Amino acid sequence: MTSSPATKPLTLDEIRLDNGYMFEAGRANEAFKLIRVLPGLHWTPPTDAGKGFWSLTRYADVLACSRHPEIFSSERGIASFEPHDPAEVTGPGTGNGKMLITMDPPRHVKLRRLINKGFTPRAVAAWEPEIRTITIGLLEEFKANGGGDFVLDVASKIPLAVICSMLGLKPEDRPLMFKLTNKVLGAGDPEYQEDVPEEQRGTSEAARTTGQMGTMQMFGFFAQVLQERKANRRDDLISILVDSEIEGDKLSDEDILWFSFLLILAGNETTRNAMSGGLITLLEHPDALAKLREDRSLVPSAVEEILRWVSPVTHMARVALEDTEINGQPIKKGERVIMWYPAVNRDPAVFENAEVFDIERSPNDHLAFGIGEHFCLGAGFARLEMRILFEEILARFKSVEPSGPAERLRSNFLAGVKHLPVTVS
Ligand code: HEM
Repeated sequence: MTSSPATKPLTLDEIRLDNGYMFEAGRANEAFKLIRVLPGLHWTPPTDAGKGFWSLTRYADVLACSRHPEIFSSERGIASFEPHDPAEVTGPGTGNGKMLITMDPPRHVKLRRLINKGFTPRAVAAWEPEIRTITIGLLEEFKANGGGDFVLDVASKIPLAVICSMLGLKPEDRPLMFKLTNKVLGAGDPEYQEDVPEEQRGTSEAARTTGQMGTMQMFGFFAQVLQERKANRRDDLISILVDSEIEGDKLSDEDILWFSFLLILAGNETTRNAMSGGLITLLEHPDALAKLREDRSLVPSAVEEILRWVSPVTHMARVALEDTEINGQPIKKGERVIMWYPAVNRDPAVFENAEVFDIERSPNDHLAFGIGEHFCLGAGFARLEMRILFEEILARFKSVEPSGPAERLRSNFLAGVKHLPVTVS
């Protein structure tokens, strides 16, 4: 669960932020607490596979980085891993520099404007009836079964249904999208390494193959959808992109495919984990759950506190475009910095009683959705989907109990939950 009690306190030497083991074991917050108080910044040394990086764990440091895209670039990728070979960083087959999230100004702003209108507060609110219907349908089925795997049966299905619908995909496409997004974002977890022989699973090579296979299969799928939309426009985001132009130039097929790839990943995996992590957190804090049952008007602020507490996306990376410094730590041009959201969201310099889960916390300026130019485009959808889910859970389940251990994802990028068995009545 979120904060498994540690058997032995972690030491600085044991901290490895470049793989998913500490996150899978639920010990990342313990590590962040240790490195947040260090002078300068914590350095993760390079390995045979990839470069080293600086870790930002203070709120002020993440603001300094996110608010200066002219110094800290997204174009060399947003995950902590950077291969040594530059061709593998921006060459064909990588999305770096080609997606909204891996693009710097000025093109980033122009690309974001193309689909902004689908994400305004008004546009998001218009989805409420459909999202509520989907949620109620899934929860009623869950209740009829007396429970099940909350991740597979509920939390993965709501955001996936919404983003697939926005992209104009058919309900039959959802299981494939679930499988492929797991391969791309859960590449390091043996459970999703089905393209690799069993005895090789769990290695970094297996992770690389799984991610590449997921990406290729996703491209194959969306290439077909794109051809269909070119022939017949529909009321969906892909059709909007087909007709979009930036300064008189149409988007290329590759631009549209990377955009679709980003949206299907960002739109479902993140919110799924916010929902599952949120339920785990409420089960671990029965007083908060009881308070929420008594006063459901607290659901919106509980959602914000869940986002702070869970921090479903654990990090975003940037690369320094010039020599600079953060917190007195010199950073050389070309070095990578990682913004750790779970760490900044528990920074005691900003959050009073940061280690207390408080569903009435106010103010609650967490950075779970990032900040600055790249602030999460889908934050409104994530908040709405989470609010509806917890409202409807409270409305129909008198009790929710764990019926087995939660299984976490082996990833340092997503605070993922793969399975969460519960009984409900
Ligand atoms: C709880 C759920 C979510 C979390 C925690 C989350 C987190 C984030 C974070 C931290 C960023 C910032 C990237 C950066 O600074 O480099 C981001 C960007 C983004 N998110 Fe989300 N996200 C969530 C849900 C969604 C949903 C539901 C969608 C789509 C429907 C979405 C679409 C995007 C897109 C397109 C970007 C890139 C924006 C840009 O680069 O301008 N996200 N998200």
